Amino acid sequence: MKRDVKEILFSKEDIEQRIKIVGNQINIDYKGKFPLFVCILRGAFMFLADLSKEIKIDMSIHFMAISSYGGNTESTGQVKILKDLDTPINDRHVLIIEDIVDSGLTMDAVTRLLKTRNPKSIKICTLLDKEERRKIPIKVDYYGFKIPNKFVIGYGLDYKEKYRNLPFIGVLKEKIYN
Ligand code: PRP
Repeated sequence: MKRDVKEILFSKEDIEQRIKIVGNQINIDYKGKFPLFVCILRGAFMFLADLSKEIKIDMSIHFMAISSYGGNTESTGQVKILKDLDTPINDRHVLIIEDIVDSGLTMDAVTRLLKTRNPKSIKICTLLDKEERRKIPIKVDYYGFKIPNKFVIGYGLDYKEKYRNLPFIGVLKEKIYN
């Protein structure tokens, strides 16, 4: 698996350090607000697991499953809700937990849907922000790392369902997807 990685962008330690900082900021900003974390499956499962351990305030965790890539390296532009939330969010402070914001299509679709359910607030926390690829302007409220336009895998992110279990974030060798 590791031999398919061209370069490591962020090591396990880099990620741990950044998550502590992001978690601390969330602890401050959401103190007394009982936030509801919405983890976007599947990519964000590892980020959620590590981030939630840094959260020292009362919070709840729920899941949504969304698909946009359809097995390729490029978003298909079609955002599908595979699993919706199973809890109401009206009057809750919602914090969406994502692994990566790329074109912004997924976050645009999810935030628009969730806003119709009258949350008190809705914000986005993403581990990776690939800003230069945006097709839709999406404001990210918390991020781990801004990344260049390279195809990244590991720490939850896949290519054809592989590599999600890598403990670091790396760039996939071009020959794997060409
Ligand atoms: C990935 C990622 C984000 C989305 C970002 O999900 O987890 O949800 O794409 O891309 P966008 O900003 O261009 O919409 P994917 O559809 O690959 O599903 P997965 O999380 O199950 O891997």
